[in-house]
Amino acid sequence: MGLTFPHTSTAVWILAACYLVAQVVAFDNSRYDNVAVYWGQNSYGAAHGSDVANYQKPLAFYCQDNAIDVFPIAFLNVFFGPGGVPSINLANTCNPTDNATFPGTNLPQCTSVGTDIKACQAKGKILTLSLGGAGGSVGFQSDSQGEALADTVWNLFLGGSSSTRPFGDAVLDGVDLDIEGGSSTGYVAFIKRLQSHASGASKKYYYTAAPQCPFPDASLGAVLSGASFDAVYVQFYNNVCGLQNYDQAQNWDFGLWDFWARNTSPNKNVKIYLGAPASSTAAGTGYQPISTLSNIAVTMRKSFPSFGGVMMWDASQAYANNRYDLAIKNALVAAGGTGFTYPACSAPAFSAGQSYTGGSKVSYNGYIWQAKFWASSTPVNDPNGEWSAISACSGSAPGSSSSSAPTTGPTAGSCANVAAWSSTSVYTGGQQVTYNGHLWTAKWWTQGDTPGGSAGAWADNGACSSSKSIGAKATAAPAPKMNSRFFRLEE
Ligand SMILES: *[C@@H]1O[C@H](CO)[C@@H](O)[C@H](O)[C@H]1NC(C)=O
Repeated sequence: MGLTFPHTSTAVWILAACYLVAQVVAFDNSRYDNVAVYWGQNSYGAAHGSDVANYQKPLAFYCQDNAIDVFPIAFLNVFFGPGGVPSINLANTCNPTDNATFPGTNLPQCTSVGTDIKACQAKGKILTLSLGGAGGSVGFQSDSQGEALADTVWNLFLGGSSSTRPFGDAVLDGVDLDIEGGSSTGYVAFIKRLQSHASGASKKYYYTAAPQCPFPDASLGAVLSGASFDAVYVQFYNNVCGLQNYDQAQNWDFGLWDFWARNTSPNKNVKIYLGAPASSTAAGTGYQPISTLSNIAVTMRKSFPSFGGVMMWDASQAYANNRYDLAIKNALVAAGGTGFTYPACSAPAFSAGQSYTGGSKVSYNGYIWQAKFWASSTPVNDPNGEWSAISACSGSAPGSSSSSAPTTGPTAGSCANVAAWSSTSVYTGGQQVTYNGHLWTAKWWTQGDTPGGSAGAWADNGACSSSKSIGAKATAAPAPKMNSRFFRLEE
């Protein structure tokens, strides 16, 4: 039944009240439609040197509408510069070469950025200081160094005080770790020290990080599990797990991040953002047309409760690319900013001892999983496992009766036309051999592991009912496992 108003004047009054309330909407980290866009590095200008008209604009230029909710300001790129003080570089907006620095330091004075920060905050947006970047001179040798930088960052950018604040009396809303190399030493101590400074503060501070999509992240993995973060902006680009391989269960790994968020992270309400390049020149790989990105984002939003929105690199690129930021915001808003309805566990329940072909789907442990290749192990949240979690789910799954079992799995017993095992041949998951009168199926890539041997590389499909096996033949080795880590184009 629709809502009806007895008096037109009442309806007008309610609409007017809603409009007034909607003018400034404070940032809400629990939503599903937040958009976080990096600002500071003039990525568009770096890629299109002659198109000066589209160079990065002052921060406030990007705060004029409701498209972007969060601006990580990039970057604090030197931790301990001259005078033991950090440095920041905001490309054409403010940097230590073109702008005045505080005496004895490489820290530029960026007063007008402070004015913009306050203007953006007045519109309900949050702005954080992003540490690192692909070209950063960053890292700690000890926890005490991490704590020392936390004290400095608190005083120079957050709720503390100092005579050398680059953004004047503007108080940023938190920090973001975009650490793309080096060890994880000191970062947990850094975050915890900031959190202890902020514990009595009058406003909320946010802690975010931007790992690359291979899970766990080489630099930030231990940090993410050691400190409490509010959001994680996963870079689904420049890697084999990037947006370009969204439709490949063996590569796409948003499920690993969701499982980590809800089961392992110190903050079980941490939000996972889908990180995307904002144009084809913003990253080496991963850029998608807006229709594709919107489809992926909305699918992730409906599949994973930890989904928080979309992150983009960067604002200059998004604006020069038909307001890519606004387009994704509209797609997320249309999909609903609040509430999560768990998809039903529609795939058959996983059945231990059964073998599945690549692409098979099962329900298990609150997720629907897809077999990356031939699989027989129990689905687990392991990047090297046989299964990829493609959606959270709830409710009881259809039982794994014989009718719902995979139809193309290994056929027990029939050894006709199956080659005998060879100790020198290379086998990939799913390939079959005969050995010792039994049919065997390789669980994964294997060479020199005897069927039935301690390596456990072969599943025993039972005694051959037909023994017309053929001679052993070599098989081609699979492509090597990709573990490429490219840096994104940032500076
Ligand atoms: C920094 O210097 C550049 C070049 O002179 C100038 O355009 C810019 O406005 C300065 N930035 C600030 C924040 O004052």
